[in-house]
Amino acid sequence: MTKRSSRLAGFYQLSPAQRREVLSAWAELTPEEQAALDGGLDLATADRLIENVVGLFSLPLAVAPNFLINGREYLMPLVIEEPSVVAAMANAARMARMGGGFTTGSTEPVMIGQVQILDVPDPDAATSRILAHKDELLANLADLHPTIRQRGGGPRDLQVRRLDHPVTGPMLVVHLLYDTRDAMGANAVNTAAERLAPALAALSEGRVLLRILSNLSAERRAWASCRIPVTAFDAEGFAGAEVAAGIAAATALAEIDPYRAATHNKGIFNGLDAVALATGQDWRAIEAGGHAWAARDGRYRSLSEWRVEDGHLVGRLEMPLAVGVVGGATRAHPTARVALKLLGWPDARTLAELMVTAGLAQNLAALRALAAEGIQHGHMRLHARKMVN
Ligand code: MEV
Repeated sequence: MTKRSSRLAGFYQLSPAQRREVLSAWAELTPEEQAALDGGLDLATADRLIENVVGLFSLPLAVAPNFLINGREYLMPLVIEEPSVVAAMANAARMARMGGGFTTGSTEPVMIGQVQILDVPDPDAATSRILAHKDELLANLADLHPTIRQRGGGPRDLQVRRLDHPVTGPMLVVHLLYDTRDAMGANAVNTAAERLAPALAALSEGRVLLRILSNLSAERRAWASCRIPVTAFDAEGFAGAEVAAGIAAATALAEIDPYRAATHNKGIFNGLDAVALATGQDWRAIEAGGHAWAARDGRYRSLSEWRVEDGHLVGRLEMPLAVGVVGGATRAHPTARVALKLLGWPDARTLAELMVTAGLAQNLAALRALAAEGIQHGHMRLHARKMVN
C-alpha cells in the first residue's frame, strides 16, 4: 500500500471529476482503470455471469478517506445508495485516527462443508467409524483443487455432529473443514463435500442427503478494534466523555435486546456490505453468516461491543467473513478489480479484516450520531425546564 496519507481533508468538497483525479493519482490508476470507475461491467460479461440478462443496474461508487489500519493508509471503496453512510464512515475513520487507527486480525480461511446423513442405524457406532477413518477420508480429497493446495490450503479436519428432528429422527451431520485460501471457496467446499459423501454413506450405513457449504463460516472469522480518546468526541454543547458513555449505553441495549440488535447490526452492514459490493463479494453469504453468528448463543445480539476504559472508547467487532479475491465477480468485474487495487491487492484474509473495519467504523458513526442527538435533546429539555422555572 502507498505511504501517502489517506487523510484527505476537503475531499468531500471536490466535484466527482476532481475526486477521480485525486483517487487516480493516489492509487496510480491506469486510464483503463479510471474508465472502469464508470461501472465497467459490459453486457456480454454480464450475460456470462448470470442467466436471462436484459441489462445492467448501477449504484453509486464512493471512497471513504482517513482509514489507518494496522499502521497502513487506506481509502475504502464503497458501493451504496443510502445517503450519509460514506460521510459518517469517513468521519468515524478520522476520529479513530486520533487513537492510532484500527487494529485487525483473522483466523485461517477455513470453510465448513456439511454432509447430512439420514437413516443411520447406530449413530454412535457410525460416528466412531467415521472418526476412525478420518485420515483416509481427508486423503481421498488430495487431488481436488490443485491451485488452492499450491497456496497452502486444502482439507483440515472432519467433525461429526448428531442432531435430532421429529420429521427425520436422528441424523449425523459431518463437517468438513477446508482451507480455501484466497477463494471464497463455496465451489471448492461443495465439490469436496460431494466427494466425501459415498464413503460417509458406506461408513455410517445411512443415506446422504445434503452436501453443501455452511454460510455460518464460524472457523473463518475476522476482527477489528479501536481505542479512541473520549476527547475525540468533544463537540459544541457536550463533552466527548458523555458521547462515549452514550455509545456504550446504546450498545448495552443491543447486547440484551434483539429489536435494537437488528438495527445496530444493520448499521454495521451498511459499511461492511458497501465494501463487499465494491469488491465483488457474495454479500448474501456474508449477511447470512453474520446474523447466524449474532445468534450463536441462542439469542440474537449485537455483533460489536463498545466500552469506556481509562478515558478511551474501546470498540471491537468480530464475525465470520467468507470473502475471496480470486474467481467469481472479483475477477469478472472491472470495477471490483479497481476497488481491490485501491485496497492494495489484499489477500482474502486482509480483505476480510478491511471489511470488518468498515463495519466497525460505520457502527461507531451511527452510534455517535444517535448518542449525540439523544444527549443534545436531553440538554435542550433541561434547558427548557430551567427557562420555565
Ligand atoms: C441506518 O441505516 C442505520 C442505523 O439505524 C444504525 C443504528 O441505529 O445503529 C443508523
